[in-house]
Amino acid sequence: MAFLEPGTEPVHCDSLIDFIRYAVMAPSGHNTQPWTFAVGHSEILIQPDSKRRLPVVDPDDHALFMSLGCALENLVIAAETAGAQATPEYFPDDAEPGTIRVQLTEPGPTREDSRDPDPARLFAAIPVRQSTRRGYDGRPFSPAAIAGLEAAAAEPLVFTQIITDRNAVEIVANHAEAACQAQFRDPAFVAELMHWIRFSRKEAETFRDGLAARTMGLPPVPRWLGLWLMRLATGPKREATRTANQLRSASALMVFSVTADTPEAWVRAGRSFERSALWATAEGMKHAHANMPCEAPHVRERLRQALGLPGRPVLLIRLGYAEPMPPAYRRPLEAVIRQPGAESPPHPTASASDAAR
Ligand SMILES: Cc1cc2nc3c(=O)[nH]c(=O)nc-3n(C[C@H](O)[C@H](O)[C@H](O)COP(=O)(O)O)c2cc1C
Repeated sequence: MAFLEPGTEPVHCDSLIDFIRYAVMAPSGHNTQPWTFAVGHSEILIQPDSKRRLPVVDPDDHALFMSLGCALENLVIAAETAGAQATPEYFPDDAEPGTIRVQLTEPGPTREDSRDPDPARLFAAIPVRQSTRRGYDGRPFSPAAIAGLEAAAAEPLVFTQIITDRNAVEIVANHAEAACQAQFRDPAFVAELMHWIRFSRKEAETFRDGLAARTMGLPPVPRWLGLWLMRLATGPKREATRTANQLRSASALMVFSVTADTPEAWVRAGRSFERSALWATAEGMKHAHANMPCEAPHVRERLRQALGLPGRPVLLIRLGYAEPMPPAYRRPLEAVIRQPGAESPPHPTASASDAAR
């Protein structure tokens, strides 16, 4: 564990656990919650949980590191709201690969280094933020709202483009349609997605991760029935049309690109997205992901060229106004906090998973 800089005061350990409580409310791809946390003397280590990778849709782990970035951002905002100073260090040499170390100290008398003059506003939005996967009402955003989103997203190595022009929205929707069709034609993609869908309430409550039926606007059903209905009701064309129409219903689209294709840039993209999502939530806006055109490599390059992006597009978000949906599950803290150097905490056992199905 690292030592504190001379002249800085440690933050109390109970607060550190509280910061993690807010970190785990972060979004993650397929709600895998691919993180573990280790608490040290005035520091928290955020580490990837390799058992929760998505090898088909995310073979290089860029979405996994973005998810860690979202958790990091929540943690930093919670610490700043509590009056502490949170200083992240990306992938230090003396820690396990993939570790983000966050050093937490009492701030000095001046807080000139604080990024946000009002972290409490973003903090209050953490438990409210959700991915709202329904159509939006298309009401336009004001110029002040667009400027606020842009300001919230500012982050080194990350370039964001906010799209409201209808022709540009159409270009993005067409790319999403093409990517979605390609993905749903790939049996490996569909199998990985189905693995993370929690069709029944029992499954959802046992695992407390993955995509619960209620968060996708579906009624809970037994797993066998859910799989059968999915095969019947979803197909590449239908899913692609639905995705494109949802993009068209948004007030604005937001594309996040990284100007360096590295894990640090991916973490920073996650931070940038989470800050914008919290800012939007505080303003009463909803958001949802439509990452397909960033995931399918052949479509991604075409999207980059069509939008003139300076780097790799990694996230596509739609924003707008809609009624909320039921919240997603999260695993309890004891499932994600581990002792430094120890194995990751236990997961539901095979017998628990069988019982849930
Ligand atoms: C890096 C990343 C990629 C995501 N990709 C998608 C996606 O392609 N489609 C989607 O519907 N949701 C996507 N999500 C949203 C997650 O499924 C969602 O955050 C998770 O289910 C938890 O729900 P919540 O955001 O409501 O807390 C993504 C989230 C992250 C952080």
